[in-house]
Amino acid sequence: MALYSEKVMDHFRNPRNVGVIEDADGVGEVGNAKCGDIMKMYLKIDNDIITDVKFETFGCGSAIASSSMATELIKGRPVDEALQLTNKAVAEALDGLPDYKMHCSVLAEEAIKNALDDYHSKKDLKTEG
Ligand code: FES
Repeated sequence: MALYSEKVMDHFRNPRNVGVIEDADGVGEVGNAKCGDIMKMYLKIDNDIITDVKFETFGCGSAIASSSMATELIKGRPVDEALQLTNKAVAEALDGLPDYKMHCSVLAEEAIKNALDDYHSKKDLKTEG
C-alpha cells in the first residue's frame, strides 16, 4: 500500500517554483515548532494578481509537496482567491496526505497568508506615503 499519492511523490521529487524572488511584493515565513520545518513564500503581485510565486522549504517531503502544489494553485490568481486557499484544498489537490501529515499542508496555507499580509501592509505604507 502506498502511503503517498503519486502526486505527492511527483511534487516532492520535482517541486515547482522553488527559489527566491529578490524584489518580492510579499514574503511570508512560517515554521512548525514541533518538527522544526520552515517554509518561506515569495509573491510578485501586479494589480492584485499573483504574477509569480516561489518558495523555499526546509522540511519534510509532504511540506515540500504541499508548498509546490500551493504555488501552482495560486499562480495567476487574484489575491482574494489566494487568501481563501485552505490546507485542505492543497491536500486534496495532492490526492490526499496521511492524517499525521496534514499539518505539513497547514504550513503552505499559513505561509501564503503571511506573504499576503506582508503585501497588504507594504501597500498600505505606500498609499499613506
Ligand atoms: Fe514538519 Fe511535515 S513533518 S512539515
